Amino acid sequence: MQKVSDAMRCTIAFVSKPVLQLVPMLDFSRQYAPLRQEILDAITQVCDSQTFILGPRVAAFEMAAAAACSTSFAVGCGSGTDALWLALAAAGIGDSTRGSRAIGEGDTVVTTPFTFFATASSILHAGARVVFADIDPRTFNLSPESVDAVLRTGAEGDVKAILPVHLYGQCADFDGFRALQSGRPELLLVEDAAQAFGASWNGVPAGSLGAAAAFSFYPTKNLAAFGEAGLVTTSDAALAERARSLRSHGMTRRYYHDEVGWNSRLDAIQAAVLEVKLRYLPEGNQQRRERAARYDQLFQGAGLVASASGATVKEGLVLPWTDPRGSHVFHQYVIRAPRRDALREYLAAHKVGSEIYYPVPLHLQAALKDLGYKAGDFPHAEAAAAEVLALPIYPELRDDEQQTVVETIRQFYA
Ligand SMILES: Cc1ncc(COP(=O)(O)O)c(C=O)c1O
Repeated sequence: MQKVSDAMRCTIAFVSKPVLQLVPMLDFSRQYAPLRQEILDAITQVCDSQTFILGPRVAAFEMAAAAACSTSFAVGCGSGTDALWLALAAAGIGDSTRGSRAIGEGDTVVTTPFTFFATASSILHAGARVVFADIDPRTFNLSPESVDAVLRTGAEGDVKAILPVHLYGQCADFDGFRALQSGRPELLLVEDAAQAFGASWNGVPAGSLGAAAAFSFYPTKNLAAFGEAGLVTTSDAALAERARSLRSHGMTRRYYHDEVGWNSRLDAIQAAVLEVKLRYLPEGNQQRRERAARYDQLFQGAGLVASASGATVKEGLVLPWTDPRGSHVFHQYVIRAPRRDALREYLAAHKVGSEIYYPVPLHLQAALKDLGYKAGDFPHAEAAAAEVLALPIYPELRDDEQQTVVETIRQFYA
């Protein structure tokens, strides 16, 4: 039999139907069913208009998204990865030319090692240097104190921006990051809000907390397209205009190129789907919060939870901690679990979905070895990578399914 390469396996995982699960990690069909007609009507309108790239449908979604994020502008693009690159490049970070620098050169951007790879790769593609700082172990988000330590050493070159990620749907500590800006007027805050559409910090929506923000609408996201799509939000008119130009090969006038950009235009079918789904997002996010609260109750009831706040995984499951200053949208419900990998295998054997976001922190990824980090550099990120387990959560998840998840976990530890 032909050997299946890792790359093939990865492709298979993304395109094939999952094995029939008792509790699937995600079930897109449950969201689609009630919205089906509305979405198909919106797609039909795009087909009838025969305007497939950018155009009025994309502009309409951009306006709706900007309003939802309380920003003046939103710029639709091809993916969350592109949105990150566009946000950084349009903010003047790096040399704006993809991949033209060797790893570790140029302006510096400080970010978290506990995130999806694109957070760091987009910094490199912008032509800037990536510097990591450790996370807050309670929220898994970049810690302002760790970033402060990096800034104080002064050894990391010209730090132009901090790029916190609102991981799992919870905003990073923007009080802390804003405090770091005092006395450093040039220091920009750029949000990786890929997992957090609808989240907020002190009542301010994700997307309007920094100079610019990047969203992903990858199909697994809480606001999900029917393919690849992303968005930059900002209230800075010049930044928005530059992002618009960069997404279309640096063109502001047809076939006159002011700078070297990229093709990252949002297509109208994705915009049409997203515009429909955006209308239902507040309700969906609220249902996610309710599902998360229900898990908390069930785990407490099953006696599986580490006893006191601040408890470690050695004492039992550690449930997600919600910072009271923010409103979490529970893009993921992530616990810390003793014997995490064995638990995951047990869940899989009992047809209960789970996932590890993320098993290897970025400073230990082969592709980033030239950054020069080693194991032990970011202990909180490394502990999180070894302990976290994401459980099924989506608005349509049923009560009985949550009970099955918790009961299966109880059996594992019994
Ligand atoms: C935190 C984070 N940043 C960036 C991205 C990149 O988004 P996309 O997959 O749409 O390129 C993702 C999504 O996978 C993400 O979760």
